[in-house]
Amino acid sequence: MGRRTIASTTREMKSSSSVFLAAALCLAAGLGAQTNSQTSKRPGTQDQEAATSQSTRAQTRTDRGREFLGLGPVPDAAAAARGQKIFASTCGFCHGSNATGAEGPNLIRSTLVLHDEKGELIGPFLHNGRPDRGMPAFPNLTDAQTYDIAEFLHQRVEDTTNRFGYKIQNVVTGNAAEGKAFFDQHCNKCHSATGDLAHIASSVEPADLQALFLYPSQSINAKGEKTTVPVQVSVTLASGESISGTLKRIDDFNVSMYDGSGMYHSWPRSEVKVDIKDPLAAHRELLGTYTDADMHNILAYLVTLK
Ligand code: HEC
Ligand code: HEC
Repeated sequence: MGRRTIASTTREMKSSSSVFLAAALCLAAGLGAQTNSQTSKRPGTQDQEAATSQSTRAQTRTDRGREFLGLGPVPDAAAAARGQKIFASTCGFCHGSNATGAEGPNLIRSTLVLHDEKGELIGPFLHNGRPDRGMPAFPNLTDAQTYDIAEFLHQRVEDTTNRFGYKIQNVVTGNAAEGKAFFDQHCNKCHSATGDLAHIASSVEPADLQALFLYPSQSINAKGEKTTVPVQVSVTLASGESISGTLKRIDDFNVSMYDGSGMYHSWPRSEVKVDIKDPLAAHRELLGTYTDADMHNILAYLVTLK
């Protein structure tokens, strides 16, 4: 049992928020930095710690937050980015493109994921699957691919649970003017600060706002709730007939959807041609291009949209 589960940590945090706050402040002040028990959970930790010691104070604070939550070492960001691509196309339709669950379970709370260090549990699991319970086997994934997927999942766990960077400081660190410049160049063709995104920061917390543009698949509905953005699909049958609608689920073997009238259809993949239109494809593509500064700047700008 390497890691503590997030569930129990969260419960503790809720049940004694003042203790939590005090602990968080100690960590922020550097008093909790010497947690030797956390140091060598995954190979590669040494390098990452060396890198961390040279990084900014904000990153160090986030790092301590991660230790406090009992998360493993910093996920390998490059591998996580590669893993995100594999995950979105191979696993996303069952687990949600950001791994928070759809037909398949939420993987951010999966104990298998939480106990994995760098793919040593996830890899063999993916090779065998649990076909009897709806989890297909992926015998052809290479070790490099399962490592990337594992790092993506660890990154998601961390991003979801470790918000110390924002919570403690309670201010957003980026440069709003530079964020606006980025927005005008890359986001404006679909969004408008005075149109669809006007006042978004009045109802959405910074950390959630960040998730909305970084981890596509969710959006905010008219009631201010997070909802999953529907994926449009068009299926062409052998007869040439084509049916369009909202994707329910797709895997290597079957595709299912609801058509415009709400009627459910499903077909074996081998018998039809499938054309998927993901409305958030642009977000996924942008994700691979942001620098760390870009992300903070965009967030700083979005936060001004009150
Ligand atoms: C066809 C749908 C489907 C696809 C595609 C799929 N999964 Fe799953 N997955 C499931 C289901 C259903 C379960 C739950 C199985 C069970 O109840 O034991 C599951 C379970 C898991 C678990 C174990 C969770 C736990 O704690 O027990 C992991 C990890 C996982 N999937 C990762 C992946 C990854 C990574 C991919 C892509 C390479 C993937 N899955 C693709 C349906 C899917
Ligand atoms: C090619 C079009 C496109 C581009 C480019 C794009 N987005 Fe989006 N974005 C979307 C779509 C589609 C949605 C989902 C809207 C919905 O369904 O409510 C969305 C949703 C969002 C949301 C959630 C808002 C809400 O009301 O749900 C935010 C925030 C957001 N985008 C920010 C950005 C930022 C910041 C950029 C640039 C870095 C960007 N987007 C680039 C298409 C785009």
